[in-house]
Amino acid sequence: MKLPIILASLITAAGSALGVQSYTPLWIPPTLTEPTFNLNLHVTNKYYLPGSNTITYAYNDGDFWGPTLIMTNGDNVQINLTNNLPDTTTTHWHGLHIPAIMDGGPHETIPKGTTWSPTFTVLNRASTYWYHPHLHTLTQNHLGHGAGGFIIVKDAQEAALPLPRTYGVDDVPLVLTSRRFYTTAAQLNQFNVTNGATGCSYGDYEMVNGVMNFGTTNVQVILPRQYVRLRILNAEIERVYNLGFSNNLTFYQIGTDGGLVNAPVPLTRLVLAPGERAEILLNLSTNAVGSAVNLMAFNSTASLGTQLAFAFPGQETGTTGQFGSLLNNINFQILHIVVTNATTNPILALPTVLCTNSFLTSANVTKTRTITLSGGQPPSGVFVFDSSPFSIHVVNQYVSLNAVEQWTIVNSSIFSHAFHIHDVEFTPLSRTGSSSVITGIQAYEQGWKDTIYIQQNSTVSFLAKFDNFASPYNPFMYHCHMIDHEDEGTMAQFVVQNTNTADLYITSCTRTGTNQSVSLNFKATPGTTYQLLFSTNFTTGSWNPVATVTSDGTSVNYLETNASRLTLSRGFYRINEPTNNY
Ligand code: C2O
Ligand code: CU
Repeated sequence: MKLPIILASLITAAGSALGVQSYTPLWIPPTLTEPTFNLNLHVTNKYYLPGSNTITYAYNDGDFWGPTLIMTNGDNVQINLTNNLPDTTTTHWHGLHIPAIMDGGPHETIPKGTTWSPTFTVLNRASTYWYHPHLHTLTQNHLGHGAGGFIIVKDAQEAALPLPRTYGVDDVPLVLTSRRFYTTAAQLNQFNVTNGATGCSYGDYEMVNGVMNFGTTNVQVILPRQYVRLRILNAEIERVYNLGFSNNLTFYQIGTDGGLVNAPVPLTRLVLAPGERAEILLNLSTNAVGSAVNLMAFNSTASLGTQLAFAFPGQETGTTGQFGSLLNNINFQILHIVVTNATTNPILALPTVLCTNSFLTSANVTKTRTITLSGGQPPSGVFVFDSSPFSIHVVNQYVSLNAVEQWTIVNSSIFSHAFHIHDVEFTPLSRTGSSSVITGIQAYEQGWKDTIYIQQNSTVSFLAKFDNFASPYNPFMYHCHMIDHEDEGTMAQFVVQNTNTADLYITSCTRTGTNQSVSLNFKATPGTTYQLLFSTNFTTGSWNPVATVTSDGTSVNYLETNASRLTLSRGFYRINEPTNNY
């Protein structure tokens, strides 16, 4: 166990006792750079409250959360993730467009004491992504203990823009969450990470990067007198944030979940649901050195406005129980920002243009599907897609490789949700609903998204292209990113099918005479390399490679010339899945 007393905690205790405002410095996660990321997910502990440290989970050296992984578009990366938790877990690369088997969803389990080593090419646009456990029914437990981390993807387009990008100086990641403490027979001050009646869907104390606001002690960061970039992630269980600044300062959104927006969007409020990210610029260049501004959650009913307030997660009025919280239905401070001198090459102007996105349009759509979210909160019910709770053995949707689909999510359940889909970054298309909910795609959602807020009684449609990765064996997930809902079964799965896979059947096989020739003919995807295998026994034989053949178009012909195979009275050929299909 670490020593439970650190300087900040002494200040905390003294400050609290005297009722004097005091500050705890924000922790900035260290960075790891490509191509190889070694991650050790382990149990540790952290000082939060006097009496006993809190058991926490972290990747690598921290005591809550993990290092920020810096990746570059186009590069190949390798991750070696060792699970030193007492349970099986998984780690999902939220927002990354990668093969399903590398995705780290509930299927890619990592038994305790073992190492999982996914590898992939980074295809995403520059933006802020994240990683977190995704084991079905234990995601709240593992994420709740602090297991998670940021992924920052860089690309050439973003690198050419005059934006703040000195990590930890004028470019700061902020993960927002909250926790409630409880006391076990053995120990004080443990996180309540339970789902269900004795559990906790909304924490009592706000945390930024795992550092807690408590009493008169607030989390503080010192930022230079210039434009600064904040990469904000909502990693809550259920709480949605109505973000803004203490003096209604205008800030500028530059990125959504999966990339830059076309031009900075001026805002005074930004709603962020669990799983969503936003990159914003804050102009501190006219603030005096030593002055302060606070990042706030304007979550009180009065602050939300009529439409947003409808079934707003975190607006429940109770202060105790599974859905109560000391932070519910109030405006509260997240982070105290103190202004210091500018750095040597400060960004002092807002770029007018960021990029030209080729968003998907309805004209691109090749298939539409509608998914209905219904149900109620346990124990009386559970929120489900299309009337069925999640089963890991059921594939709920089949999507064709390269399809551009319009997905419409109808929320007819009794609560609001955060819909998340793996594999793709989508273009939000529409949000409709009654006059009591927010409708329309909001100013802060005009970009690439993988998670979107869907209030009760509303319907959201988005457009997505399912390219690059197909596998009949490895599904991708879609689910509510309110972690307790997900664990309860508000999750489903889809496979992306290479429709040409059906063409892999051998369409003709002819043998002429004795010891003459065998000709195989099968339809194939142009440009794809297939491997042919041969065996003398269909059921028990070992399959040996015969040849690789590259399709030039609609079919591939293979003429057998091997004398020993041709002299056999019987033999079998098989075509393997293309090697670029996972
Ligand atoms: Cu961030 Cu399927 O999750
Ligand atoms: Cu939900």
